[in-house]
Amino acid sequence: MNVRTIRVDDLTGMQACNLQNLPENYTIRYYLYHAMTWPSLSFVAEDHKGRIVGYILAKMEEDAGKGEELHGHVTSISVLRSYRRLGLAKKLMEQSQKAMATIYGASFVSLHVRKSNRAALNLYRDTLGFTLKATESKYYADGEDAYAMHLSLKDQGTVARTN
Ligand SMILES: CC(C)(COP(=O)(O)OP(=O)(O)OC[C@H]1O[C@@H](n2cnc3c(N)ncnc32)[C@H](O)[C@@H]1OP(=O)(O)O)[C@@H](O)C(=O)NCCC(=O)NCCS
Repeated sequence: MNVRTIRVDDLTGMQACNLQNLPENYTIRYYLYHAMTWPSLSFVAEDHKGRIVGYILAKMEEDAGKGEELHGHVTSISVLRSYRRLGLAKKLMEQSQKAMATIYGASFVSLHVRKSNRAALNLYRDTLGFTLKATESKYYADGEDAYAMHLSLKDQGTVARTN
């Protein structure tokens, strides 16, 4: 499986992967916004025929600056069912985290995860080392709570920001 940064012609494949896996769905315009604004932060995993089997959609947090450190945010990640437990999500996360730190000087990465999402929680907390920052009550449209989680990127070799 090949992991690479996204191209505009990947967006429908990413959306299809998202629709199969998650109730949080987005318009193509929202994918395009990520791809055009932060092209180096989102990645796809493709099979030997170039079919998209997983993706990470990520961005820099635009609200940072009001006393908060500059940080990245994972909007969405998913891997098609028959390609799971191969280390793809870990690889997608690590590539995006590295780009957040080295290209944008992010000091940490944030994300939300459903309280009931055991697989994702294991990935974030046990495999990648994220810590729980807060529980956000009824964060999801169906009323489920979210865990807000953070991971420091300070050991990822940041570069100075120029703006
Ligand atoms: C969560 C998800 C992205 C993980 O993708 P993946 O490619 O299978 O994950 P990886 O192979 O990189 O797994 C890395 C680690 O995560 C944990 N993990 C992954 N899937 C797991 C599962 N079903 N149960 C328990 N732990 C799991 C394990 O610790 C695993 O390490 P190990 O295989 O060495 O035990 C995938 O299950 C998925 O797409 N789920 C539906 C969409 C989703 O929930 N996205 C997250 C929204 S916040």
